[in-house]
Amino acid sequence: MPKYRIAWLPGDGVGHDVMNAARLVLDRLSFDAEYLPADIGWEFWCKEGNPLPERTIEVLKGTDCALFGAITSKPRDEANNELAPELQGKGLSYFSPIVKLRQLFDLHTNMRPCKAFPGNPLNYRDDIDLVVFRENTEGMYGGIEWFPLPQKVADAMADSAVGHPDRMKKWFEKGLENVAVSTRVMSRQGCESICRQAFEYATKHGRKSVTLCEKPNVLRETGGLMTRTFREVAKGYPGVEPWEANIDAICMWMVKNPQDYDVLVAENMFGDIVSDLCAGLVGGLGFASAANIGDNYAVFEPTHGSAPKYAGKNVVNPMAMLLTVRLMFDWLGEPDLAARLEGAIAEVISDGAVGTYDVKGGKGGVGGDSTTAVAEAVASKL
Ligand SMILES: NC(=O)c1ccc[n+]([C@@H]2O[C@H](COP(=O)([O-])OP(=O)(O)OC[C@H]3O[C@@H](n4cnc5c(N)ncnc54)[C@H](O)[C@@H]3O)[C@@H](O)[C@H]2O)c1
Repeated sequence: MPKYRIAWLPGDGVGHDVMNAARLVLDRLSFDAEYLPADIGWEFWCKEGNPLPERTIEVLKGTDCALFGAITSKPRDEANNELAPELQGKGLSYFSPIVKLRQLFDLHTNMRPCKAFPGNPLNYRDDIDLVVFRENTEGMYGGIEWFPLPQKVADAMADSAVGHPDRMKKWFEKGLENVAVSTRVMSRQGCESICRQAFEYATKHGRKSVTLCEKPNVLRETGGLMTRTFREVAKGYPGVEPWEANIDAICMWMVKNPQDYDVLVAENMFGDIVSDLCAGLVGGLGFASAANIGDNYAVFEPTHGSAPKYAGKNVVNPMAMLLTVRLMFDWLGEPDLAARLEGAIAEVISDGAVGTYDVKGGKGGVGGDSTTAVAEAVASKL
């Protein structure tokens, strides 16, 4: 029996192209796994009204972890129009299956390494090597929002608006049908868990500092809770320096001195924003890997989406996906495989002989080697 059972979720668009590249490398490594394909994404929303069918959740429950390509998401009206005619008007509404997976399996930690591999012509600087820890289930992306604002929510907000009754009144006078509210709900446990993961990682990997990216001077309650919790957790890790930065300031510092940072930690939305900025410093979406980690399960995915215009063309960069496989090896406790794969990736990048259009200075998917050629080059170095 194979050592691991891996749920195999290509999803939509270029998700298939990069997952094929991953499989090529996994097979060359003779990785001892059984792959269980499962349905996820836009196709299943259109055909079945559910982008994450129940049968997929059942497959995941029987596996060690999942490898995921990318999905397509569209705004509400487009989603409704593309639904099969027999499903329209039944009150179905589209949701992001990846966000749902994070919540269903309590994948509370999103980890995104951003490393400038020597020789990558897309590096902003060659000495960047940082990791972003982003809380994955709460905060601004917790999904608690309203439009139009229901009267009882407005009443509750007005009731609890200690110190701000005039401001509330001003908004509500515009008419509740004109007011949208998205909330940022954060728990002490959520804040503590993500801060602890960041400090644990820093300790284990000999990193000098962990930087909290928040905005406690404006978001006084949620930002305040996160900041206090961060300081508490930091006391348990005297070997790691706790740094704090406002989210706006850190975006500027990332452009000025990204090499000074080791580990960043943030709530869901701030982490999403800052990790994309960091990804842009080390080659962009073609190099950005991510892990969604819970206590008992993990889903590994490149940061990029389904890039529909390149779907099936075999032209996008598979490095993000291959670096994602590397993260999976680490999580499964296979450090030798992780090191071999990262070594091979680093060699291909520094050789510079083979690369997709984004690396070779091409445009629109043209001007580089194919996805498969890059995966083959990595496989040949293993
Ligand atoms: N986690 C996910 O699955 C995820 C993430 C982001 C966007 N999306 C979805 O993907 C669809 C397309 O969104 P988008 O165009 O904003 O983002 P995208 O990441 O799919 O693509 C944006 C652009 O980035 C470049 N790019 C992306 N991946 C690349 C790679 N591996 N190699 C080289 N270049 C690459 C391409 O130029 C592409 O057109 C949307 O439906 C969106 O909702 C899904």
